[in-house]
Amino acid sequence: MPRESLDLDFVRRQFPPLGNGWAFFENAGGSYAPQSVIDRVRSYMTEAQVQPAWSFAPSADATERIARGRRAVAELINAEPDEVIVGPSTTMNVYVLAQALRSAFAPGDELIVTNLDHEANNGAWRRLAEFGVTVKEWRIDPSNGALAEADLDALLTDRTRLVCFTHCSNVVGTIHDVAHLTRKIHAAGARVCVDGVAFAPHRQVDVKALDVDFYTFSAYKVFGPHLGILYGKREHLLSARGQNHFFIGEDDIPLKLNPGGPNHELTAGLVGVADYFDAVYRHHFDAPENSFHKRAGRVYALMAAHEERLADRLLDFLRGKPGLRLIGEPTMADGRRAPTISFAVPGRSSQALQTALERERIAVGYGNFYAHRCVEALGLDPEDGVLRVGMAHYNRLEEVDRLIEALDPLI
Ligand SMILES: Cc1ncc(COP(=O)(O)O)c(C=O)c1O
Repeated sequence: MPRESLDLDFVRRQFPPLGNGWAFFENAGGSYAPQSVIDRVRSYMTEAQVQPAWSFAPSADATERIARGRRAVAELINAEPDEVIVGPSTTMNVYVLAQALRSAFAPGDELIVTNLDHEANNGAWRRLAEFGVTVKEWRIDPSNGALAEADLDALLTDRTRLVCFTHCSNVVGTIHDVAHLTRKIHAAGARVCVDGVAFAPHRQVDVKALDVDFYTFSAYKVFGPHLGILYGKREHLLSARGQNHFFIGEDDIPLKLNPGGPNHELTAGLVGVADYFDAVYRHHFDAPENSFHKRAGRVYALMAAHEERLADRLLDFLRGKPGLRLIGEPTMADGRRAPTISFAVPGRSSQALQTALERERIAVGYGNFYAHRCVEALGLDPEDGVLRVGMAHYNRLEEVDRLIEALDPLI
């Protein structure tokens, strides 16, 4: 019998540390990995850790396991494997991409970044000003962290070459209509580079449906190993300037944009993320489905429905607290919010609140989460910043209740 909602007992059994007694809500920083990921990394290192790319069998085995990791993540986001760069982090991937695109910009060409984004999709682009590129800033409404489309319209010109923005901010939590914004930006003759790091743990990414030029996310927040994934449309990767050794050809994608190549055992470990999605699929649905992207999509839908319940429970409580400053959308109602919920309490230190919760074995984060410009624009102290509750699909409603009970007397 297919199940209509996520079987949390089943889900939680896949993640070894979830029985450790903590209510863990720092998932937007980094999520736990299921046993399947741990097993894939371990079996690569136990059975296959030699230099790949040779014809002899032990090396061919390593090559195949690495290729399967890339294929798994490509299918997850509906990309082709050669369009996916598996790098050390999103920060590093964007840095390399910015260097790779640098020579395509002429002096006076324009690039738009936001003051909402994490610094990963910010600093590397802003630095291109040193090479004559004009960098413009799409600014948030300081009262609520929203990006207004009319403000983007006012910034787009016939010199705009690239717009770098976030699918979902890791502080504000609002989900942007990337397909719509991308259509608008393409119509203006520019490309997009979208940061999906805070989105990909919660909803399925489909790079083809979004029609994005470049899209980034971090596998270690999507239950995988500590890696960053960068998608680029094939023609853009081919025309970008290679950043690897001089003898790596300009047609050698994705290696030319992956200096040093991918981390082997962790890339092999990405197959474990697919194993996890498939295990959840098999547990919940009877119908066979050949496409991994579609199976993962149905699993994501279960996750999103559960996360909505979790987040609404906390949002209901926070809205009832006079004076508390809730950042972003006040409810999950219209699907425009991820369950990454930040708030500040005037006169109270976010750090002190975090410490008080830690005493109750409740893990949340505080500060700016490297979205320094955003927290500053919101008028908050960038060091103390906000208290952030980063939920994942494996959290229980009881954990949210525990958090509410602990927070209630503090705020
Ligand atoms: C929205 C967002 N973008 C980018 C990053 C940077 O990712 P990485 O640590 O892989 O460089 C983070 C990390 O917290 C993030 O939350």
